[in-house]
Amino acid sequence: MKKYIVIGNPIDHSMSPLIHNYWMKVHGLIDSTYVKKKIEKKDLVSIVDQIRNGKIKGANITVPFKKEIIPLLDDIKGDAKLTQSVNTLCKVNSEVHGYNTDTGGFKNSLENDHINYKNKNILIIGAGGVTSSVLEAFVGTANKIYITNRTKKKAKEIKKLGDNSLISLGRKKDTIEVIDWGENPEICDIIINTTSVGLKKNENLNLDFKYYTKNKNTLFYDLIYNPTETNFLKEARLRGNRTKNGKMMFLWQAQIAFQIWTGITAEVDTNVIKLLDL
Ligand code: ATR
Repeated sequence: MKKYIVIGNPIDHSMSPLIHNYWMKVHGLIDSTYVKKKIEKKDLVSIVDQIRNGKIKGANITVPFKKEIIPLLDDIKGDAKLTQSVNTLCKVNSEVHGYNTDTGGFKNSLENDHINYKNKNILIIGAGGVTSSVLEAFVGTANKIYITNRTKKKAKEIKKLGDNSLISLGRKKDTIEVIDWGENPEICDIIINTTSVGLKKNENLNLDFKYYTKNKNTLFYDLIYNPTETNFLKEARLRGNRTKNGKMMFLWQAQIAFQIWTGITAEVDTNVIKLLDL
């Protein structure tokens, strides 16, 4: 049996097994299975060992281990390097490599909705585990990227990662600006909530929505997809703005991971989208 796993803490809420087991079935991988496991930090070493010795074929890493896993790996690739965030592990020859499929998943979710995100003004709210992945999607293509977080220091750390990417692209450094929590940036084309605010029903970011929705073309994107509509998205929708939740990003990041492990390009179609109907 080929075993795949998603590890995190908490992990109960994870929909990854549903999606990957579905694709395994669709593609006839009857000797493969995907399970979720709640772990503690000390268990990370054993997970990496099990990938190295073939007991586990592949793993997804979720909160709060996406950064902590990095020192245990033989190498990290592409976006994982730029974001310092790893959500997928795979054995390559005798080594365990870390990948980041969140950035690709986020980009695919925009592109498949024909959302033009190039040369735009972007506001990223939050500076948590997934924020660097979102930032990386815009680095090098945005006109301006604002980041704001309740704890400003963390936003500055995320900016540093983005600046390093910009330097490696040979671009100027001042595209990314950290603004104070509650400070309004210039009018933005896309506003993304990467905080955990909204996971619980009545939580509110207390933003200046009147200002934020001045441009009715501004897209409001929340990485949260359960609940399907956070107050962040509801406030924007009620003011006539476009909104998008994190469901498609989640599916696309899973699709890229599945491809890394199996070489198979799984379909992100209505059947798999329906699996996530809550
Ligand atoms: P971590 O911070 O451990 O990476 P996370 O869930 O990835 O955890 O990130 C949580 C994000 O939601 C952070 O940006 C956090 O802001 P702080 O850095 O100031 O903690 C943000 N967040 C959580 N609760 C919040 C609240 N009540 N108001 C504003 N931001 C909040």
